[in-house]
Amino acid sequence: MSKIDTRNGSVPKKSNYACGRCGTVQDILTTVKASGKSGPVAAYMLQGYCPGSRERSSAYGGRFFAAVQNSAAFDAAAREWEQRRDRDLAPYWPRSELPHGFMTHHLNGGIPNHGFTHWWTMFNPRQLLVHALLLKAIHQVGDGKHRWEAREYVLGAFQQYLRNQCMLSFWHRAKDHFAPALSNGNYHPKDVSIECGVFCRIGYGPWTSSYSGLPESVDWSADPWELVSTEFLQSRLAPKEAADLPKSKSVKVRPEDPVLPRSTIACGSATDLGELADGTFDLVVTDPPFGGLVHYSELSDFFYVWLRLVLKDRYPDYFTAPYVPKTLEAVSNKARQPEDPDGYYRKLLTQAWKQAYRILKPGGILAFTFHHAEDAPWVDVLESLFEGGFYLEAVYPIRSDETKGEGEFGAKQVEYDIIHVCRKRTDDPKPVSWALMRRQVLEDIKGLKQMLELHQKAGLPEADLQLIRCGKALEYYSRHYGKVMKANGDPMDVKDAMAGIRVLLDEESLALKDPPPAACDGMTRQFLRMFTGTDHVARDQVQKYLRGTSLSPSQYEERGWCFEKAKVFHMTPFLEIARRWHGKPRQHLASDYDQAAFVIGACYEGSNISVKETLSNPKFKAHPALGELVQWFADHGPNADLRKAARQALVHLRTWQSKQVEIKDAQQKLNLES
Ligand SMILES: C[S@@+](CC[C@H](N)C(=O)[O-])C[C@H]1O[C@@H](n2cnc3c(N)ncnc32)[C@H](O)[C@@H]1O
Repeated sequence: MSKIDTRNGSVPKKSNYACGRCGTVQDILTTVKASGKSGPVAAYMLQGYCPGSRERSSAYGGRFFAAVQNSAAFDAAAREWEQRRDRDLAPYWPRSELPHGFMTHHLNGGIPNHGFTHWWTMFNPRQLLVHALLLKAIHQVGDGKHRWEAREYVLGAFQQYLRNQCMLSFWHRAKDHFAPALSNGNYHPKDVSIECGVFCRIGYGPWTSSYSGLPESVDWSADPWELVSTEFLQSRLAPKEAADLPKSKSVKVRPEDPVLPRSTIACGSATDLGELADGTFDLVVTDPPFGGLVHYSELSDFFYVWLRLVLKDRYPDYFTAPYVPKTLEAVSNKARQPEDPDGYYRKLLTQAWKQAYRILKPGGILAFTFHHAEDAPWVDVLESLFEGGFYLEAVYPIRSDETKGEGEFGAKQVEYDIIHVCRKRTDDPKPVSWALMRRQVLEDIKGLKQMLELHQKAGLPEADLQLIRCGKALEYYSRHYGKVMKANGDPMDVKDAMAGIRVLLDEESLALKDPPPAACDGMTRQFLRMFTGTDHVARDQVQKYLRGTSLSPSQYEERGWCFEKAKVFHMTPFLEIARRWHGKPRQHLASDYDQAAFVIGACYEGSNISVKETLSNPKFKAHPALGELVQWFADHGPNADLRKAARQALVHLRTWQSKQVEIKDAQQKLNLES
């Protein structure tokens, strides 16, 4: 058996390689770019599966690796491809270049610089042969024996298979298995491309696995199901019924809502629903794109250029164009709109909302989901929604679809969704002052108290409750959109309104029994709200807390206040923060949080850091909130050690403060005497 030593290799550091002959280390992209082609590749390793080994409970569940010693099959496929590519397979592979785009030309050093100049260059000769043969078969096999609809149906599997079998499909090191191209919604070139066997009977990736979902989709359309969390069902069912639930995380629940035969599918831009009559719909449900999170049309080209080859004669209106239409795409794209990508996105989104407004009946409902980790796109979406004539009736935070959390197409960084329910504003908004609105909002939120307490008892986390309150406040704001006046008489925009609402909710301590000291900086207050009585908070909760504050978790990480581990944010221990400041100029120790963390950290047993020294350093300027903040930690610190150190720090602070007073008095006396 040959051995593979994975410790040696020709990749000494990321994006570099060492020349096999002379050992010179060079940047891969520089070299590939000079060659004008994609990087040379060679088969390195095979992965196999041995059922016998699995039965014997061998390591790695029956899977094994073997060095590639014979490339005859690959070479034969390459020869066949050369012979047939311009003959019988000529109509079945795309020739077009990658059009200029953000994903293709702005990211990853420009994909064409990696040699991916045309869509076919993303596949090796064997992959091209496989795809062209499959596409030809789907198009022609059996002549009139198969209905065209059946061929289209199989094309759905072919489209999936393109992702599985290309030079961008790769070995996922952390997960130790195959992963399809575009898993992260980009064209990032891969350094460990893998090919799956086409007709392997096991594993995810082969053609066999790509079409296995087809019959399932037919079953689903006749009798659809949704996944519901077992935990949720357990809390709702009687104990006897709950005991019968399976042990899995989720259960299939059937809403008995099959796809009806008279449904109509149309392909067009939501900015132009021209054929749909005014005021005729009860409900519009949508899942709009968010900012520049995913560049759908640029990513779709990867599939479209293949599919159009067999669809363009049948559907000339949709598949004649060489690429996916992009002009009306609501996306913030720097390649197409270099001047103002976000503005363009907002403009198109507003047009789409206006169309939805037009076709809805006066009492109709618009519902849409929102999933984005950043705040700015949410403000954009709300702003364009209100511009489009809608007001927000309610928001419902929900757990994200679990399949989205694992780097699936598009929704990678997102932990949760918000469902927005909106109605048409039918009257002109009436002017209202922000001051008056604040009072109304507070009254109403108090009215929600009972309902929210019930949710809280049922286990809804505080961050979710806060989002519901925020939604309620936004309802008011959106009803008066454009006419909510600030004290100076200017209308309040959505960004300001969100910030105001957050402060309002905080100030009235509706959410917190023990609000952080009012004298603290805004950034510190938000941080303490999240970490009241705890030193760790789940990432999705942090994102929800920060919604509408213009703050992001990364800002806290950059300051070294917390760090993320396994989707949970942990407060950086104060002792660590105190040690970090060792030997650093004290004038930089300026933020209220850093100062409090320092003096408390220094009071931990065995810290060997002198609080007194720092306090008496003339360059150290105590923040006005320092005393209150340390007191807050002494009362609400997440653990006994921290609270004890904070109490100790308070003693130091008070001694120092009284000394400051003494010095001041003495100086004043001196001044008077002289
Ligand atoms: C968040 S995705 C929807 C994903 C979908 N719910 C799913 O689960 O597959 C947003 C979609 O809006 C589409 N889109 C962008 N601009 C559009 C427009 N002007 N009209 C209609 N759809 C548009 C994008 O192409 C993308 O497919």
